[in-house]
Amino acid sequence: MKKVQFTETVLRDANQSLIATRLPYDKFEPILEKMDKAGFYSVECWGGATFDVCLRFLNEDPWERLRKIRAKMPNTKLQMLLRGQNILGYKHYPDDIVRRFVRASVKNGIDIIRIFDALNDTDNLKVAVEETIKQGAMASGTISYTISPVHTIAKYVEMVKELKQMGVSSICIKDMAGIMTPKSAYDLVSGIKDAVDLPVVLHTHCTTGLAFMTYLKGIEAGADVIDTAISPFSGGTSQPATETLYYALKELGYDVQLDEKILIDMANYFKPIRNDYLADGTLNPISLTTDTQCLTYQIPGGMLSNLLSQLKMMNALDKFDEALIETPRVRKDMGYPPLVTPTSQLVGSQAVQNVLAGERYKNVGAEIKAYCRGEYGKTPAPIDEAVRAKILGGEKPIEGRYADTLPTDVYEKAAEHLGSTARCEEDVLSYIAFPQVAENFFEKRREAEENVVRYTITEA
Ligand code: CO
Repeated sequence: MKKVQFTETVLRDANQSLIATRLPYDKFEPILEKMDKAGFYSVECWGGATFDVCLRFLNEDPWERLRKIRAKMPNTKLQMLLRGQNILGYKHYPDDIVRRFVRASVKNGIDIIRIFDALNDTDNLKVAVEETIKQGAMASGTISYTISPVHTIAKYVEMVKELKQMGVSSICIKDMAGIMTPKSAYDLVSGIKDAVDLPVVLHTHCTTGLAFMTYLKGIEAGADVIDTAISPFSGGTSQPATETLYYALKELGYDVQLDEKILIDMANYFKPIRNDYLADGTLNPISLTTDTQCLTYQIPGGMLSNLLSQLKMMNALDKFDEALIETPRVRKDMGYPPLVTPTSQLVGSQAVQNVLAGERYKNVGAEIKAYCRGEYGKTPAPIDEAVRAKILGGEKPIEGRYADTLPTDVYEKAAEHLGSTARCEEDVLSYIAFPQVAENFFEKRREAEENVVRYTITEA
């Protein structure tokens, strides 16, 4: 019988989607050894926002968190999310930084790196993919799923073939907004399976309520792995529940090898934690509901609320309907980028500017200029020439990869700046990814250690 495997997301995406990644290591440490024996294909536990939030809010060294998880989970593949050439943020880094980051991630315990790009530009994926394979880890080549007239199955399949050429171990369809329908999943997975012989991983969110059906149809078309979250951290803006899919698929006759008893223990473990976050307001009950607006407007939920708050700030809420019409027009002008951070903000803000100014592209931000210069990569369709000329004035767009134009001494400069504050390569990489936040963290780390030393001496 067809085998279906599970990637458990409670430590990363579910944590990020429902409680802004606020789960400290100590809160989930006691369940890790048990989770290790559940039989998951992988546990997504790092990357995305975990790195930034560890340093910024939890006073945790993200590298140390990863090593601790590794030690507690020797039998499960640990997975991270990486934004290709942007690593964990939104700006491009030179190739040697991408390579160092990948190398350090694998060295500290990562087995699978899911590598994506906001524009699906494979030039932004290839260095990270190449280095992941070189370090002996698995690269999961990822499609940022979106809907537009140019995002046809043929186009996605073309990208998948390129990823296969690069040597990826699997293909992930990443539907960050939960807009993939059961039919689209069936058609897309079928198209990919016909074109390449690689495992297909499905990733979606429950936001619009489609997720369970989308997974089921994707599995019928041959998907091999699904991303799910243990029930207390499932639903709403998070993934569908692990146990629910396990029961449904098992009854349908699929080969699903998860340990039921451990799933129950995990759910019992995370339930009171979820309730604590509900009680203190970290988990907003709205995040757990279904919101079908993005199906109507083809605009992700987060973007709609951004549009509203921008217009409110400008005292122009009456322009909301106009902004809703302008948003897809701007997206078309920009060559149909997937609406994911940072392109969602870029398109949304420009739509608001256009509506407020009463003239299109009269006011343009620095980011949209950079986008038109080609600093984010190749766009899915060409940018409208007249719009680009108006935005750039006389400036010429860059040719080739933006990363190739970046300085090559970023690491050395950062190491020199930090001096003895940096104790290892990982510290320097934390600083390069989040400079101010990392320096604050290093300072707190030093203070904490001095206090320990003082305390120990008094005790003695
Ligand atoms: Co996600």
